[in-house]
Amino acid sequence: MSHSNAKFITVEGIEGVGKSTNIQWMAEQLEQKGLSVVLTREPGGTPLGERVRDILLAEFTEKTLPQTELLLLYAARFAHVEQVIKPALAQGKWVICDRFVDATYAYQGAGRGMDFKVIDSLNEWTLGSFRPDHTVILDAPVEIALARIQRNRVLDRFEKEKASFFEKIRQFYLQCAAQNPERYIVIDASKELGQVKQQIAEVICKI
Ligand SMILES: Nc1ncnc2c1ncn2[C@@H]1O[C@H](COP(=O)(O)OP(=O)(O)OP(=O)(O)O)[C@@H](O)[C@H]1O
Ligand SMILES: [Mg+2]
Repeated sequence: MSHSNAKFITVEGIEGVGKSTNIQWMAEQLEQKGLSVVLTREPGGTPLGERVRDILLAEFTEKTLPQTELLLLYAARFAHVEQVIKPALAQGKWVICDRFVDATYAYQGAGRGMDFKVIDSLNEWTLGSFRPDHTVILDAPVEIALARIQRNRVLDRFEKEKASFFEKIRQFYLQCAAQNPERYIVIDASKELGQVKQQIAEVICKI
């Protein structure tokens, strides 16, 4: 996709694979090549989006319907894309985003069982053909990833899901990568952090 020469890179993977840990490292690799980089995340990325994130992760007395979850995500995503991501790319800044549209297909589609066509139609309306140039999937077995987050955190609404939910999501991401190797790069995130960083440096070098 051509937005100036800057590229839009997203990072995906289940909870605990190391997205937040590695995103800064990815930015440093690009900055070493003299590029300027904006780091952002979803849900979030704007003041409104960060408040939507808090709502999405919170527990309410009533259960949150998948449709409600999906519409909140897209309300925040539209603001994020229009007001942060596209303007940064237009100024020649590279953008790295911790989760993006693939997470919606993975969590709300594969995970919660929402019809992919509903997600397609929201994408069409809000994003048109705008998609990441590259998507880095940090992949690790569910038990390994979940053990990392269960160590020292109060779990949010997503993190309390069963292992089978995350297994569907992991498999969905791997399937995306198999179907579209042009856009997706799979990193073995089960390895120790130094080795994960090494793999990331190698792929970033080639982008
Ligand atoms: N390769 C690794 N080996 C061991 N521990 C790791 C590794 N990568 C990250 N961690 C640790 O695992 C925990 C989860 O990492 P991190 O928060 O980066 O995951 P995440 O993918 O951003 O999760 P979430 O989706 O919940 O935001 C952190 O405590 C981090 O220090
Ligand atoms: Mg994170």
